[in-house]
Amino acid sequence: MKTEQRTTEPSRVSEYIRRDTEAISPSLTRSYPFVMARGRGCLVWDTDGTQYLDFTAGIAVTSTGHSHPEVVQAIKDQADKFIHMSGTDFYYEVQIELAEKLNALVPGSEPKQAFFTNSGTEAVEAAFKLARYTSGCTRTLAFLGAFHGRSMGALALTASKYVHREGFEPMVPGVTHVPYGYCYRCAYNLEYPSCDVYCIKYIEDMLFKRLVSANEVGAIFVEPIQGEGGYVVPPPLYHVRLRELCDKYDILFVDDEIQSGMGRTGKIFAIEHWGVVPDIVCMAKGIASGMPLGAMVAKKRLMTWPPGAHATTFGGNPVSCAAALATVRLIEGGLMENAARMGDRFLQRLRRMQAEHPTMGDVRGIGLMVGVELVKNRSGKEPAVDLRDAVVQKCFERHLLVLGCGMSTLRFMPALSITADEVDEGLNIFERVLTELE
Ligand SMILES: Cc1ncc(COP(=O)(O)O)c(C=O)c1O
Repeated sequence: MKTEQRTTEPSRVSEYIRRDTEAISPSLTRSYPFVMARGRGCLVWDTDGTQYLDFTAGIAVTSTGHSHPEVVQAIKDQADKFIHMSGTDFYYEVQIELAEKLNALVPGSEPKQAFFTNSGTEAVEAAFKLARYTSGCTRTLAFLGAFHGRSMGALALTASKYVHREGFEPMVPGVTHVPYGYCYRCAYNLEYPSCDVYCIKYIEDMLFKRLVSANEVGAIFVEPIQGEGGYVVPPPLYHVRLRELCDKYDILFVDDEIQSGMGRTGKIFAIEHWGVVPDIVCMAKGIASGMPLGAMVAKKRLMTWPPGAHATTFGGNPVSCAAALATVRLIEGGLMENAARMGDRFLQRLRRMQAEHPTMGDVRGIGLMVGVELVKNRSGKEPAVDLRDAVVQKCFERHLLVLGCGMSTLRFMPALSITADEVDEGLNIFERVLTELE
């Protein structure tokens, strides 16, 4: 990548990192010393003026690219009018307009209502509470490998890494985790489709018969594609069977689209790839191009809770709502289509690379939610954790920002505005780095 590094001035990066280490909680995870100064589209610059290609979009958040001019303008215009009034106690148009838009975008013909939050975790927390309230049931199912957030309710649903939970027990009670549709590492050692989607059958045939009464389960929380758990795409019938199970036992299907939603997979919500209609949808991350905003959208008939049952001071902030409306306009105006095209470009190139690189155990994804699971060798499938971490580090040294997820997966989740040249340039760096480290 092109660099504007100043050679005469000493680097400021190490001084920022020294101050950060002193001042900021050590619970944050930084993979490499990138100190952001500015960004545009898929390019970012650090405080020394060095340019990087960003394949992270700030963890799948800057969906329209860094500081898209239309989003920046919408933020400025709204900030000029008013910055806050609290949607809990007062009305304002921009929140109403966004709710109407999101309610219409969520799959299914039933009327819907929205509840706005500041983050993904809070959207999950709201869904968790609503599901309990409206179903009257105290039990909930979630999946091993799932990430739904870190507040005590959302954390009880999360099971992606033990470090998230260790030291924080006991969790909110009543949550049972079952294996996800992770065919590359099937928990039952079966193969799709001859398994007949056993990972869903297991819930009915084993769990509901031996441990948990289906009558007591109010909701199942599921990511259409597991994100933090390793960019795991379940098999074609997975969500269809899960929906059938929910219908049979009158259980709410709660779709966590926080990482997979807002056009990233080439459809507004990833669950649309399976043609399934959820009861409740959680969204955040890419919804407002980086302004803090989350939303929980539910079928209107489920929103049975009375005034005061759940609310928030900052949720649905007007500046965030204005950024979200601009973001949705851009996503619908071409970025979602670009995500589908560029996602195919990623997958085609990575699959070609896979033939040459035995450490590329599995290449998977939809749209711009692309994962490469690195293994020590293809037959044993032993996770190559050190190799994955070394690739992340070396890509950074070559001015490409990538992040890991799951045990040994590398994830590519750039802005939906990425160009073909940027895809090729980033993957050239990745291929060179992998070849050197293998
Ligand atoms: C699927 C999913 N749900 C929930 C969350 C939590 O969102 P936030 O970090 O905005 O609280 C995340 C964050 O990575 C996520 O990927």
